[in-house]
Amino acid sequence: MSRVLIAGGAGFLGSHLCDFFWNKGFDVFCIDNLSTGSAHNIRHLLDRERFTYIAHDIIHPLEIDVDLDYILNFASPASPPDYLRLPVQTMLAGSTGTYNLLELARSKSAVFMMASTSEIYGDPEVSPQPESYWGNVNPTGPRSVYDEAKRFSEAMTMSYHREFGLNTRLLRIFNVYGPRMRPKDGRAIPNFIDQALKNCPITIYGDGSQTRSFCYYEDEIEGIYRLLMSDLNDPVNIGNPAELTILRLAEIIVELTNSDSQIVFQGLPVDDPKVRCPDISKAEKHLNWRPVVDLSEGLAKTIQYFASPL
Ligand SMILES: NC(=O)c1ccc[n+]([C@@H]2O[C@H](COP(=O)([O-])OP(=O)(O)OC[C@H]3O[C@@H](n4cnc5c(N)ncnc54)[C@H](O)[C@@H]3O)[C@@H](O)[C@H]2O)c1
Repeated sequence: MSRVLIAGGAGFLGSHLCDFFWNKGFDVFCIDNLSTGSAHNIRHLLDRERFTYIAHDIIHPLEIDVDLDYILNFASPASPPDYLRLPVQTMLAGSTGTYNLLELARSKSAVFMMASTSEIYGDPEVSPQPESYWGNVNPTGPRSVYDEAKRFSEAMTMSYHREFGLNTRLLRIFNVYGPRMRPKDGRAIPNFIDQALKNCPITIYGDGSQTRSFCYYEDEIEGIYRLLMSDLNDPVNIGNPAELTILRLAEIIVELTNSDSQIVFQGLPVDDPKVRCPDISKAEKHLNWRPVVDLSEGLAKTIQYFASPL
């Protein structure tokens, strides 16, 4: 039986990964410090066989006395309000934390996957963004704590691959959404749904002409699994190339929730990217993967989750 360790396993994506691997018959070890995640996301797994939760901050070395086949590093604050509130922790999670998990992977000869991000492209000058694009990142602005930590993590992961022959994967995630996001998470979809369901004003930062590309979590998890099981050591974009403006997203959410909310506009955050769209030709070619869930279908399921009491 294969063993997988998922750091950040109590978060939005991590908890869905715990479910996914558990359902495939893996022994799942979930590591989390609950800084932005929640025990609620994994409560249904806690008393099951083949599932172990370890409360741990990855900025400290982790010792675990079982063999491991796969280590997935998803432990990092991920929403802008979270990483702007936790700048040093974010830097440490994406540097010392990644190093500690790479060391663990090396000692166990495990496959290591780093959850990187489209943010490593910064405010891109090319669109869609292929993996070969090096990015346009402000190295000292407020968002740099996240972007540069992820860029360091990628470089460190490649260093372990080159120097020690560690079997590594670099996953570049574009915006993902779905159930288990927190209503106050601060990212566009949970924000808009939360405001629409309460008939409160929907706040758009800037004029809403900036674009994003949203991938439903089920599609993302399938892409992550295919990448993990592949032999690709170079970065791979896993995201949905269906690009739309933030204003259009807000309008769709108002329609789907039958909300009376008005859309209001506020100042744009520093270094907010103007466009964001993955070039997924590499994933299509090598993983035979592309997303299949339509935005309105994924949003309807997410709205249903937000509308039902926890
Ligand atoms: N959701 C997205 O759209 C998206 C996009 C790009 C990249 N990512 C990456 O995917 C990963 C998961 O993102 P998410 O959206 O599920 O966010 P999330 O905040 O829901 O999950 C992150 C989890 O990591 C845990 N964590 C944070 N720092 C930790 C530490 N030092 N030690 C142990 N646990 C720690 C948190 O408690 C949380 O459970 C992150 O690494 C993020 O950068 C996500």
